Amino acid sequence: MNTKEVCKMLDATIKTLIVYEEYGIVVPKREENNYRNYSEDDVLKLRTVKLLKELGFSLKDIKSLMEKNNYATTQFMRSLYLQLKAVETKMNELDHVKNTLVTSIDKMLDSSKAVDQDSFLRDMDTILKENKDNRRIWVDMWGFDNKAIKFDKMVRDSERDELGLFEKYDEILSEIRTRIRNHKAMSIIDIGCGTGNLCGELSADIDVVGIDQSLEMIVQAKKKYGDMKFRLGNFLDKPYRNKDVDIVVTTYAFHSLNEEEKKEAIDNMLEYIKEDGKIIIVDFMFLNDFEKEERKKEYYEKGRQDLWEVVDYKYYTNLEKLENYIHRLGCKMKKEHVVNFTWIVEIQN
Ligand SMILES: C[S@@+](CC[C@H](N)C(=O)[O-])C[C@H]1O[C@@H](n2cnc3c(N)ncnc32)[C@H](O)[C@@H]1O
Repeated sequence: MNTKEVCKMLDATIKTLIVYEEYGIVVPKREENNYRNYSEDDVLKLRTVKLLKELGFSLKDIKSLMEKNNYATTQFMRSLYLQLKAVETKMNELDHVKNTLVTSIDKMLDSSKAVDQDSFLRDMDTILKENKDNRRIWVDMWGFDNKAIKFDKMVRDSERDELGLFEKYDEILSEIRTRIRNHKAMSIIDIGCGTGNLCGELSADIDVVGIDQSLEMIVQAKKKYGDMKFRLGNFLDKPYRNKDVDIVVTTYAFHSLNEEEKKEAIDNMLEYIKEDGKIIIVDFMFLNDFEKEERKKEYYEKGRQDLWEVVDYKYYTNLEKLENYIHRLGCKMKKEHVVNFTWIVEIQN
């Protein structure tokens, strides 16, 4: 496709296309007469760039994203996925700004004193800066394609797992599969399914849907387990089914959610399961704040603050708080320590 046709199709100017080319974002091939010839992939990339620009991403960030977004799946799916992630990021940013505005207005309405406008403006500046920083982190974080490809090896590499986070990984997954079979489950949802190591082999004779927020993980899982079904999704998405699933299971993924999000995720999981269904959570947890402090002390005494920072970076479950929440919902919870930070929790109506 020549430059004029592309401009017409995307409602873009020649100057814009040249800027993208100069940045190395979309560089079309040249014909013998030196005219530009845009391929289908180039046009797809341009569509993505257009949306990202409209969402407020800088050309520098867009370039970085496009370069990292190169995992092994079709260009079309990649392009849609990248756009989806960009929209999600923007929605979070806007939520952030909206909440600040609402809080500021509420504070002004409540205040009987003269309003300190400078302080409100400073709050907003901080939020905008945080948004920008978070966006930078998101752009830099992109590229967990490598993680997905290396994931199966990584969880079995005990030498590099100084915290023993994945100790007994295969044994634990096998134990969970046994529990699923003993429950005579015919339909399962595995949230944060990763590369499908837990439920993949059950999918030959059980209806299994794996949900994960990472397309790259799903692509790897799909290669290994042809019978398993997948959805791109999140613990926090509203359930797409209602009380017709025997077991909702999640392994080594729950710690990505903060305390409030964990509650929301539990509510969602309860929506999925039948009256006699079950939720099984395998993840990193502490009994309570006291145990967490004790463990922290141990690592500090060993001079391994660096390892503790890894623990503290994510949201390991506080079992006491989780149990309180489960009981408040009128449900039952069983908990069992397996090894190091890993626990198995079962929740039933
Ligand atoms: C450490 S891996 C575990 C994968 C798999 N469950 C296993 O046991 O091998 C964590 C997985 O959870 C996914 N994940 C993290 N946060 C998530 C969220 N909020 N919603 C859905 N998936 C999530 C990640 O993309 C990743 O694939």
